Amino acid sequence: MTLIDRLHEALGPGAVLTEPDDVASYVADWTGRFRGSPTAVVRPADTGQVAAVVGLCADAGVAVVPQGGNTGLAAGATPRGGEVVLSLERMRRVRDVDPVADTITVEAGAVLQTVQEAARQAGRLFPLSLGSEGSCTIGGNVATNAGGTAVLRYGMMRDLVLGLEVVLPDGRVWHGLRALRKDNTGYDLKQLFIGSEGTLGIVTAAVLRLVPATPRRATALLALPDVECAVGLLPVLREHGGGLLTAWELLNRQAVDLVVDHLPGVRDPFDGIHGWYGLVELAGTSDDVDERLDAALAAAVGPDLAVDAVVAGGPAQRASLWALREGVSEAQRIEGVSVKHDVTVPIAELPRFVARTGPRLEELLPGVRLVTYGHVGDGNLHYNLSAPAGNDDALRAAAPDLTAAVYDEVAALGGSISAEHGLGALKRQAAAAYKSDVENDLMRAVKQALDPRGAMNPGKVLP
Ligand code: FAD
Ligand code: MLT
Ligand code: ZN
Repeated sequence: MTLIDRLHEALGPGAVLTEPDDVASYVADWTGRFRGSPTAVVRPADTGQVAAVVGLCADAGVAVVPQGGNTGLAAGATPRGGEVVLSLERMRRVRDVDPVADTITVEAGAVLQTVQEAARQAGRLFPLSLGSEGSCTIGGNVATNAGGTAVLRYGMMRDLVLGLEVVLPDGRVWHGLRALRKDNTGYDLKQLFIGSEGTLGIVTAAVLRLVPATPRRATALLALPDVECAVGLLPVLREHGGGLLTAWELLNRQAVDLVVDHLPGVRDPFDGIHGWYGLVELAGTSDDVDERLDAALAAAVGPDLAVDAVVAGGPAQRASLWALREGVSEAQRIEGVSVKHDVTVPIAELPRFVARTGPRLEELLPGVRLVTYGHVGDGNLHYNLSAPAGNDDALRAAAPDLTAAVYDEVAALGGSISAEHGLGALKRQAAAAYKSDVENDLMRAVKQALDPRGAMNPGKVLP
């Protein structure tokens, strides 16, 4: 029997896809830049079937690429060629909401938005929030240690996971679905799998922490003269927002232009043109939220500070301010070829990073468009590039030099070349080049210990 026959036998009808039309949406990444041809795409229905697939693939010497919503931005879920893509899309159940432990237990293929909604119905909040939340999955969020727009208040996915169930590369299942707040029994194994991008095992379920619901939100868009102002306002927003400050996001004029040009119905709420924009959000349970935002804006707008501010008057206006921020990725994709950099530097160094890198890139590719946006409160910029108008080929040709210039500047300022998207196939070489020998040795040792045959997502994360 061939591997495909065995997979059919183990998973039943409709769960093993091999026809080009059937596998099309699984073989390319969200940007459309990366694609590969797998042996098959399989869609197991439960943890036992995931383990069976991993065992069969191991016997056949075929590698496995785990895939969730396929919204990743580092080509981590894209096959190289010949692997079996294992999609978790049929494992999307919310298994349990526990009001005493304040946790939710979900299968890995559950879409983030579904989990947010289940928490809401229980009167609680699951605070991870990404532009891709309508499609990305909890398994993908765990595997990439996703960040997003509420990290400032709640941390990254790593901070929200209490327990995991994982199918290991040898087909055994680690039943780590514990909801314990305290567990000091040696190495914290779940942390190894969080952020491992499918290279150490397949996450099949997770226990997640819930937090108090925040039904009242107050949101404003600020017009800013420069990045220095955005960074300088962070302590001001923190002081006035207190524990309610949830988001402090940034976008430059170029980003706003792309969104307004490409996404119907999204508009720039200011009359004038500004260099930079900051989106602030406070969230809580009472009117206090609006009062605190008003106080923050009174302190933030003025000479040598923010130039202007627009406060969302209600849910529709709030949604439209967020559409401006969250639409940038899609607008840039519509615009054409782009080169993405998901970088972080110490927050105070952001102005210097922007001031030094832009001119260097202009020297390398005159007219290159800097589409800069991201999570300024976390020191994380999506320092993306679009081609000089109509010249995608020039951007493609210059991309390696442009990226090297960005990463060198990040390294010089003590930053990281991947803040939240991971390494996947895209940044594994670059990351290794900036890590010390000790770090690279430790990374290899972990991989060797868990996946000595290199069966899990080869060609990702490690060089
Ligand atoms: P996939 O893309 O399917 O996979 C991503 C990686 O995880 C791959 O390496 C894959 O092999 C592995 N993987 C997936 N499922 C499993 C599993 N069950 N077990 C083991 N490994 C697995 N990311 C952010 O961090 N912050 C943002 O603000 C953000 N905004 C985005 C906005 C847009 C418009 C888009 C398109 C993407 C954005 N992303 C963001 C990136 C992406 O949505 C996240 O990385 C997300 O966590 C990926 O989830 P996914 O289910 O789509 O994973
Ligand atoms: C975002 O924050 O919008 C995404 O992480 C950025 C991206 O698509 O590069
Ligand atoms: Zn982001």
